[in-house]
Amino acid sequence: MIYWLTQTLAAHPALARAEAPEGLLNTEEQVRYRSLVVEKRRRDWVLGRWTAKHLVAAYLETTTGCRPALNDIAITADPDGAPRVTITGASASFGDLALSISHSRDRAFCALTAIPGCVPGADIEYVEARDLSFVAEFFVNAEIRLVSDAPAPLQTLLVTTIWSAKEAVLKALHHGLTVDTRNIVCLPSDPIDNAWAPVRIICDSSLTRATFRGWWRALDGFALTLAVNEELTAGQTIASNMGQEQAYNGVHR
Ligand SMILES: CC(C)(COP(=O)(O)OP(=O)(O)OC[C@H]1O[C@@H](n2cnc3c(N)ncnc32)[C@H](O)[C@@H]1OP(=O)(O)O)[C@@H](O)C(=O)NCCC(=O)NCCS
Repeated sequence: MIYWLTQTLAAHPALARAEAPEGLLNTEEQVRYRSLVVEKRRRDWVLGRWTAKHLVAAYLETTTGCRPALNDIAITADPDGAPRVTITGASASFGDLALSISHSRDRAFCALTAIPGCVPGADIEYVEARDLSFVAEFFVNAEIRLVSDAPAPLQTLLVTTIWSAKEAVLKALHHGLTVDTRNIVCLPSDPIDNAWAPVRIICDSSLTRATFRGWWRALDGFALTLAVNEELTAGQTIASNMGQEQAYNGVHR
C-alpha cells in the first residue's frame, strides 16, 4: 500500500506566513529552517514537512495505534536531496518507511510506504499550458503522439501529467532532474474521476534495470503522480489517502 496526503497553506495559519507551526520541527529541523533565506523556499519546505509529518503520524496511528508527536518525526535529506524519515524517542521499531515529498504553488503532496524495498516517487504540478518547445525538448514520440491524439481540452492536463510522472520516477530512482527525461517514457491512461488511473512507465535500461508502476489523478487544478518500483506487486492496493481533513486537528492531540 502507498499512503498519500495533500495539504495546502490553508491547513494552518502559520504556513501562509512561511513560519513553522509550533511543535512541527525538531531542533535540527529548526536550524535547517532558519538557513533557508528565500521566503518561497521556506514556505514550500515547511508545507512539505507539515504534510509529510502528518502523513507519517496518521500512518503510524492507523497501523500501530500509536501516534508520535510531529517533532518526534525527523525528516532529513540524503546527500542527493531525497527525504529520509526516522522516528526519534520511539520505544518500538516502526520498520523502514520510504517517503517522497513534492510541492507546487500553495500545495504539497507526499507519499509513504513501508513495503520493504519499495521506493515511492511523488510529484505534484499545477496544470497550466506549456510551450510546444517544452514537449519537443523533454518528451519522446510516443508521449507526443498520446498528447496530440487526445481531445483538445485534455491536452494540457496530459502534458502536465507526463512531465510530473517523469519527475516521480526520477525521485523514486533518487536521481532528480539530473538525467535526460527522455530516458523515461510515461503514458497515462484516461483519467478516472476521484481515483488513481494507471501510468505505463518504460525506463531505458541505461538508467535502471528496475521496472516501475505509476498512477495519476487530477485534483483541484493540479496533476498528482505516483511511481514505485515493482516491489509493489499487482495484488497490492496502490493508494490510501490519510485523511487530509483531519490533519490540522491532529497537531493538537
Ligand atoms: C528532485 C527534483 C526533480 C524536484 O524538483 P521540483 O519539481 O522542483 O520540486 P518538488 O517540489 O516536486 O520536489 C522537491 C522535493 O523532492 C525531494 N528530492 C530532492 N532531491 C531528490 C532526489 N534526488 N531524489 C528523490 N527526492 C528528491 C525533496 O524532498 C524535495 O523537497 P524538500 O527539499 O522540501 O524536502 C529536483 O530537486 C532535482 O532535480 N534534484 C536533483 C538535483 C539537485 O539539485 N540535487 C540537490 C542535492 S541537495
